[in-house]
Order: sequence, then structure tokens, then C-alpha cells
Amino acid sequence: MASIAERSLLQPADIPNRRTRFRSERTVRFTESVIREMTRLAAQHNAVNLAQGFPDFPAPQILKDAAQKAIAGDVNQYAITWGAKPFRDAITAKYKRTYGIELDPEREITVCCGSTEGMMASLMAVTNPGDEVVIFEPHYENYGPDTLLSGANRRFINLHAPDWTFDRDELRAAFSKRTKAIVLCTPNNPTGKVFTREELEFIAGLCQEFDTLAITDEIYEHILYDGAQHIPIMTIPGMRDRTILVNSMSKTYAVTGWRVGWVIASPDLSDSIRKVHDFLTVGAAAPLQEAGAVALALPDEYYVNLSRDYGERRDAMLKVLEGAGFKTFRPGGAYYIMADISGFGYPDDMAFTRHLIEDARVAAVPGSSFFENPQEGSQLIRFCFCKKYETLKVAQERLARI
Ligand SMILES: Cc1ncc(COP(=O)(O)O)c(C=O)c1O
Repeated sequence: MASIAERSLLQPADIPNRRTRFRSERTVRFTESVIREMTRLAAQHNAVNLAQGFPDFPAPQILKDAAQKAIAGDVNQYAITWGAKPFRDAITAKYKRTYGIELDPEREITVCCGSTEGMMASLMAVTNPGDEVVIFEPHYENYGPDTLLSGANRRFINLHAPDWTFDRDELRAAFSKRTKAIVLCTPNNPTGKVFTREELEFIAGLCQEFDTLAITDEIYEHILYDGAQHIPIMTIPGMRDRTILVNSMSKTYAVTGWRVGWVIASPDLSDSIRKVHDFLTVGAAAPLQEAGAVALALPDEYYVNLSRDYGERRDAMLKVLEGAGFKTFRPGGAYYIMADISGFGYPDDMAFTRHLIEDARVAAVPGSSFFENPQEGSQLIRFCFCKKYETLKVAQERLARI
């Protein structure tokens, strides 16, 4: 009987070449996610995982009940590809109530598998190879591979510590007729910056001047501190049909594993986004969309409590980190703290993070993973604090010994 190698078109001598032969060019320009790698390392070393941003406390009972009820009630087949009607209606009502944005649930909402898919489908839907996409950095690491996978070129613009402001001339210089979109994340991961109305108006002005889209990641919209206000750039005059708003249930409702998100965009943009979404994933989990309709109908009090609760965890975590010798940057939103490690005398963030995981058994994310040029993040690391107080307490005890 012929061996596998003989039956294959390749001869044994060719087998090492398979590695490159079957590796598409689009995958070789980026690595696997550093954040998710940190989660695996944390598990390996039994470290407290303050790397990946997922809560270790339960989701609201009312959502769990709704999901169970949907499965028991046989909501087990494909939902409409761009989202179950009750969920799209709940999204419509929520945006009207919270921001006064009027949406057509039939033509302007695409429910997808988390905002991860929403961002990918949006970039694939609107960019062509050679188009440019402007990205503020430090940035959530997915935007790098997302733009590469969609064939776009990137222009990175620095947010400058300590308050993560940007230079308006520098941003303007990054725009040209090749600019198809700017990716904006507010409240921002990893910095905690909440873009102000003035900043958004400036960005909106550039989008209109250069005929560019704003693709916004608003996944932390309800996690805000010290009176900060989230303003969707879609509400800035002239931006209603120039914005693709990406969001999800993951962070607001503590259900990162459910993988339910949505994209809001004008009908012509939604047309293209829906096509990409349909052939990528068909749709998000049908019973969880039923629970999503319950989530988005929660009263405003839920969001007030969410911000207050995370605000208390933020304050506790700032104390822990400062007590352990870190210089911290106080976030105005989201649930991360960027910390400066230069006081510890390590050559770079990777060496420090390794020490933190292996010796102190606390995992964080190396700052370099948020920059195109790793050097720029080499004295930064990011901690998340979306954890039970017991978890934060263990982290405190361990960090006190670094
Ligand atoms: C800014 C940002 N966008 C998107 C995501 C992923 O969101 P989802 O779970 O909806 O795919 C994360 C998760 O950490 C995030 O921080």
C-alpha cells in the first residue's frame, strides 16, 4: 500500500516546503494575539490573569435566565443573518433612548459574532488593497491584523501620555485622498482615554474634508469615570452616514464568551458589511440574541451601577499598583490601567512581564503589543481590573513582593 507521502502529490523531499507553500501571504505579517497568549501563560504558571479583559464574576442572572429560556424554547436554529428581529429592535430602542440616534433596524444594523467580527467585516467591506486606514496608538491589538487582512495600509498616530492627547497637525498630515477610514476606540483600550467632544469634532471635520469614514469601537461606552461622557462620533453633525459604529454585549454585560456584537451603519454601508458578515459567520448564536434583547432593555440604573462599580475597582487597583512601585496613568473609562515600568530597571516590557508571570504569578500585557514599533511600548504594561475583589486582593499580595 502506498505511503501517505507517495499518495501525496508532494515527494518526501518537498515536505519541509509545505510550511511556506500553505502559509498565505496575508497571515505572515502578524503574529498570534499577545493578549490571548498571556492568558495561556497565566494558566500555565497559575498566575492571576490581569492580562485579558474578561470579568471573572457572573453575568447578570436575568441574562442567564433569558438565554436558558431561549434554548429551552427551541430557539436553536439560524437567526436571520443580520440579526434576530427582537434583538435588532432592542438595539434600535437603546440607541434612541441613550443617544437620540434613530436607526432603521431593517437596514442599518448587522448583528455579528462580537465586535471582533464587526470590525473585521467592516474593514473588509469598505477597504481595497492600497487604501489607508488611520489608527491611534497605543491601540487594541486586533486593529493591526484586521487592517492587514483587509489589505489596507496603516497610518499610526500617537496618543501622548500622560493624558493621551494627539497632535492635531500630525493627525491632519496623516489624512490624504487615499484615507478610507479612521479607526477610533473610545473609551479607549488600552489607555482609558475618553475622547472629548472637541477632539471628536476635529476628527469629524477631517473625515468630511477628506471623504473618509470613522469606524468606531464603542465596546466600553458604559464604563466611564469621574463624570466622563461617551459621545458616539455618529452624533456629531455630518457624521451620521460617515460612521460605522461597532459594539458588543461582551463588556457591558460581562458575557465575553457569548460572542454577540453589532454594527450600525447607513443602509449602503450596511449592505456591504452584511455581505461580508453572511459569508464569514452567517450569524451570531440565536438563543443568545434573545438574551441580548433582554440585556439592551435593562434600565439606565444598570449602567449607572456598572460605572460606579468599575470606578471603585479602578481606584482600588490604582492603589495596589502605586503601592507596588508602578507609575500609573489614571483611566477615564474602560477597565484597564496602563503602567510605567521604568522604575523597575528591566530592559523591556517582555522581560518584565515574564518576570511578573513566572515569579510573582500575576499576568499583564506587555505594552509593545499596542504599538507598531515595539520600542515605543517597551516601558509600559497594561493591567485589567474587571475582576472580583478576591482576585484583586491576591494580585495585591503577589505584587507587593515584586
Ligand atoms: C477595544 C476592544 N474591542 C473589541 C474587543 C473584543 O470584543 P468582542 O468580545 O465583542 O469581540 C475588545 C476585547 O478586549 C476590546 O478591548
